[in-house]
Amino acid sequence: MTKSIEFKTSVATALSGMEISPKKLQELVGREKPAGQHHMRYTPADMMAARYHAAGLEVPSPEALQLAGSRFPALIVTRMTKGGVGKTSLCVNIASTMAMMGYRVLVIDADPQASASNLLGVETASYDSNITHIGNFLTKPKADKEPDADLSDAIEHIYEGGFLDLIPSDITLAESDASMVTVMASHARAHLFLNRNAGYLCRHYDVIFVDTAPGTTPIGLAFTYAAKEAGKVLTVVEPEGSCLRALDSLASNLAEINTVTGAEVGMEVVINKYHPSLKHVRESMGFLYSKYGSMLNDSIIPQFTGFARQLNPGNRDAAPLVEVEPSSVGAAAIFDVAKSLIRSFGISQPGLPASE
Ligand SMILES: Nc1ncnc2c1ncn2[C@@H]1O[C@H](COP(=O)(O)OP(=O)(O)O)[C@@H](O)[C@H]1O
Ligand SMILES: [Mg+2]
Repeated sequence: MTKSIEFKTSVATALSGMEISPKKLQELVGREKPAGQHHMRYTPADMMAARYHAAGLEVPSPEALQLAGSRFPALIVTRMTKGGVGKTSLCVNIASTMAMMGYRVLVIDADPQASASNLLGVETASYDSNITHIGNFLTKPKADKEPDADLSDAIEHIYEGGFLDLIPSDITLAESDASMVTVMASHARAHLFLNRNAGYLCRHYDVIFVDTAPGTTPIGLAFTYAAKEAGKVLTVVEPEGSCLRALDSLASNLAEINTVTGAEVGMEVVINKYHPSLKHVRESMGFLYSKYGSMLNDSIIPQFTGFARQLNPGNRDAAPLVEVEPSSVGAAAIFDVAKSLIRSFGISQPGLPASE
């Protein structure tokens, strides 16, 4: 069920983040349009090639990329105390965008509701669904320094070429959440998991996304602590009253984690479901800028019906908006957020400098 991903020239140009003509982009990619094809179709590998060529470098082979990996991938943990704000929609769409850009992305679904897994096309609803979820690794009796031999078995390949992988979840992850309570130093378990598997993760990925459950679950807390490596979590708010209070709760939760564990985890806030004509939205925006101004991402995601079309349980054609409607205003806003996170989380690839 691994997908091959292709997109047209205008989407490739938007994803490249470079102000260049279609002709120049094709030159940078360094591949001729196949005979018999009317228009050039670009792939994640093409976008990666363009980035290396723009830096005056040769494109590493997949093997060379794995050998070169020494830096730990950037870690983007999404957290929000309230559900339904669009955390999963943004996490999956930003992850898919970075994969389309040719970064090597791993998504860890850390929510028993499995919406990220479903959105990426992994079915979890059947009674005999058989996946290995992240709870298996977080609750191991001895969380020692040996890498997990079964890690690669847990990983599903979503895009061809290793550009988008997933550790899926299903409802049984809720059992792990419950047993985390009895586990020693459960807050450190996600950090331990990432560290003991650093070899594998460095070889295969440039960035790891974690979609956590709403609220303050033990697994969510463990990944929040692990986010000290990035210095912040990514959070999503809707500009309305209860969501602003949820944001205050998340801020005090982070402050508590920092005090108890000595981690220094801040947050980057993305505003979602923005609709300029609503009065309560305008009022909430004022509050957000005055209280959280320095943490706000510059891009705002509009209210856009395409997000609701993504999950289509009837015919199983679930896919992120950026794949299905890459030229929409919703996708354009996601592309902007992805580009800014590449800078603010310092995402790069072996041999390339981190962009600023
Ligand atoms: N910008 C948006 N515009 C319109 N609907 C959205 C937007 N973002 C998310 N949604 C919808 O909101 C609902 C909740 O989104 P979801 O990503 O599952 O939230 P969470 O993970 O925070 O619970 C979904 O039906 C989704 O399609
Ligand atoms: Mg969710």
